[in-house]
Amino acid sequence: MALMRLDKFISNQTGMSRSEAREVLKSLRVTVNGVTEKHYDYKVDTDKDAVTVNGVSVSYNEYLYILMNKPKGVLTATEDKRQKTVLDLLSDDVRRKDMAPVGRLDKDTTGLLLLTDDGKTAHKIISPKSMVEKEYVAELDGDITEDCIRSFSEGVTLADGTKCMPVVLKRIKENVASITICEGKYHQIKRMFGTAGLGVNGLTRIRIGGLCLPECLAEGEYMVLESREELLEKISLNG
Ligand code: URA
Repeated sequence: MALMRLDKFISNQTGMSRSEAREVLKSLRVTVNGVTEKHYDYKVDTDKDAVTVNGVSVSYNEYLYILMNKPKGVLTATEDKRQKTVLDLLSDDVRRKDMAPVGRLDKDTTGLLLLTDDGKTAHKIISPKSMVEKEYVAELDGDITEDCIRSFSEGVTLADGTKCMPVVLKRIKENVASITICEGKYHQIKRMFGTAGLGVNGLTRIRIGGLCLPECLAEGEYMVLESREELLEKISLNG
């Protein structure tokens, strides 16, 4: 049995602030197991009590796992004074305290981005030790040469002397390639292509481990995954 104060439960699970949660309680818009409850310090059993707010059932998830198709022009950050962040794209019911992107994509990069309030799992996914593959499609401002493919497969050295692990570069069109990396160095893909004299005109992440960007998800849209287990299984990481 896991007990939690009712105002905390409502605030954690709906994204309402603690004072908004107390307000809905005061105005008799909350039920627990079918009975109206107005006391903010009522202890909810998160394993079995059924809570509704404004007539809508509020189920209990300790953590949320979100899969987003990040659009261009949005920062991978939790907040910014001037610019829109990926957190701004979430609706209130999933924008929980501690929700944060898992790793980062550049402002002009699109595609698969995970967000969660489960810091431990996020760390596991981005840890270099986990060696999770990340696949991108890159559109370049010139043609991809055999030399470029060979040097990527041997591991390129960036302009500042940083050595990258060998990667698989597959040509899709003359100037479009799929590239799979296990590391996450700052601007890694753009800097790697830079060593071959190529600029990146467009970059989309399409896969993390075994988790592919769903075709049904338009840019800016997201979906909530069932559980940590579902996420780790899709990525092919052990719990
Ligand atoms: N590499 C980059 O250069 N940019 C990204 O957004 C991700 C990987």
